[in-house]
Amino acid sequence: MTRIDHSLAGKTVLIAGGAKNLGGLIARDLAAHGAAAVLVHHHAGDSHEAAQATVREVEAAGARALAVQGDLTRPAEVARVFDAGIEAFGRIDIAINTVGRVLKKPIVEITEAEYDAMFDVNAKAAFFFLQEAGRKLADHGKALTLVTSLLGAFTPFYAAYAGAKAPVEHFTRAAAKEFGERGISVMAVGPGPMDTPFFYGQEGEDAVAYHRSAAALSPFSRTGLTDIEDIAPLVRHLVTEGWWMTGQTILVNGGYTTK
Ligand SMILES: NC(=O)c1ccc[n+]([C@@H]2O[C@H](COP(=O)([O-])OP(=O)(O)OC[C@H]3O[C@@H](n4cnc5c(N)ncnc54)[C@H](OP(=O)(O)O)[C@@H]3O)[C@@H](O)[C@H]2O)c1
Repeated sequence: MTRIDHSLAGKTVLIAGGAKNLGGLIARDLAAHGAAAVLVHHHAGDSHEAAQATVREVEAAGARALAVQGDLTRPAEVARVFDAGIEAFGRIDIAINTVGRVLKKPIVEITEAEYDAMFDVNAKAAFFFLQEAGRKLADHGKALTLVTSLLGAFTPFYAAYAGAKAPVEHFTRAAAKEFGERGISVMAVGPGPMDTPFFYGQEGEDAVAYHRSAAALSPFSRTGLTDIEDIAPLVRHLVTEGWWMTGQTILVNGGYTTK
């Protein structure tokens, strides 16, 4: 039987939210480990410069790179970003979605607009990203979505954010079954609270101090926060030789939450 090559060699990658923070690191990491090409999707105006810098770093690592802007809460934009990758690189082998926005607020104060925004970016964008992956990934491709370790937590104030990431767990299961006949592996990874501006934007000083206390969030003797460097190697494994794990949502947080 012919063995399929699941290594990064010659593979083309699309990273939604690939300009900075976790997505930027994944872009650089996959290029450094041998990916042939990386599409760096970015969204807001101020992410443009970060996307250009990531493109330069990906190229310096020896891979081709392309930056493409898009609001992925609009399915037509998701399709356009995938099409741009296929036009530039010939095909997409690996599609990783790091898109997300967080809201920390009591349920009784959340507005309809805030609820809609959370579900648009965390659930709807993730669904249509997986739909495009199912339509357009090459055979034996890989799709992976970033969710949150809050899916294993029993905690107040993140109902809209974690509630909007929760459907991705089922999207992932269904997509893994539906795309599996083409050899496509589908996974979701939920980091713990990560040391990026995404986290600090919604947290007060007390909460940051709590999250930083090792005893509160992790049995390991260091900060309770997850570093993006803790997540990128696992993502790399799951979208390469770790492909046999499919349909699952795994929480990666140094022992903060489990499920
Ligand atoms: N940091 C944490 O504490 C933490 C913990 C657990 C899970 N996560 C998850 O990990 C992922 C990466 O987070 P991060 O810490 O690296 O922060 P981040 O850089 O802010 O990542 C979120 C990305 O989503 C993009 N985005 C937001 N709205 C979008 C839209 N409408 N269309 C397309 N893209 C959009 C952002 O782009 P723009 O900035 O250009 O809008 C950004 O690139 C997220 O899915 C997040 O939910 C984060």
